[in-house]
Amino acid sequence: MIIAANLKTNLTRKETRNYVEELSTYMKQHASTQEVLVFPAMSSLDNYESNVVIGAQNAYPTQNGAFTGEIGLDHLEEFGIKTILIGHSERRHILGESQEFIAKKFEYFKNLGFQIVYCVGEPLEKREAGKEEMLTYISAQYEGIDTKYENLIIAYEPVWAIGTGLTPTLEDIEDIHQELKTKSSAPLLYGGSVKVTNAKEVLSLKNVDGILVGSAALYSEHFCTMIGYGDIVEKEMV
Ligand code: 13P
Repeated sequence: MIIAANLKTNLTRKETRNYVEELSTYMKQHASTQEVLVFPAMSSLDNYESNVVIGAQNAYPTQNGAFTGEIGLDHLEEFGIKTILIGHSERRHILGESQEFIAKKFEYFKNLGFQIVYCVGEPLEKREAGKEEMLTYISAQYEGIDTKYENLIIAYEPVWAIGTGLTPTLEDIEDIHQELKTKSSAPLLYGGSVKVTNAKEVLSLKNVDGILVGSAALYSEHFCTMIGYGDIVEKEMV
């Protein structure tokens, strides 16, 4: 299973170092076999000696250059970072990234062989407009994206479930994941208000290959519990 933490605009470099250490210790002590990804804030990127994969929440599709406020490939290479989150709803909706730009970013990092966690998901009005309209909306987020890319992970994150405590029902998650699996056979994560209280159930669903966790991942002990659920669910599956 893939157990991923998007730390967003939280945790300083010092806090991130402690966090990553706590995760690593947990994984060693429990001989965890989960693929754990952590996306720290930009200024908290660093060389972490750990069995956790560190990814970037964002970068501009450039080696370097005049893109005020952005970082480029040089800044990721400094820390050996080869994993990136692209298409997160906060970047689509708050920062106004278009599908065209997102696809350009995807192409750039794909050509460099990066592991890409690509996010899709619908806002509430699309969910309420019925399944067909919702799927049409999500399909548009696949435009310009190489769904066969070997280093691709997709994360389905309904916008209305992010940071709200609301989640789709387990049946709904299973249903939409089944639909999304027809678009790409890449591992498919669920994200949106995943917490210690629902993570195990979500991880047990068919066509759910992992979770992408925001707020609840900020507490290392909660996130470690979720890593542990990944191990339990994997054992139950065999
Ligand atoms: P929450 O877990 O806080 O809902 O955030 C999910 C998310 O956006 C992960 O990328």
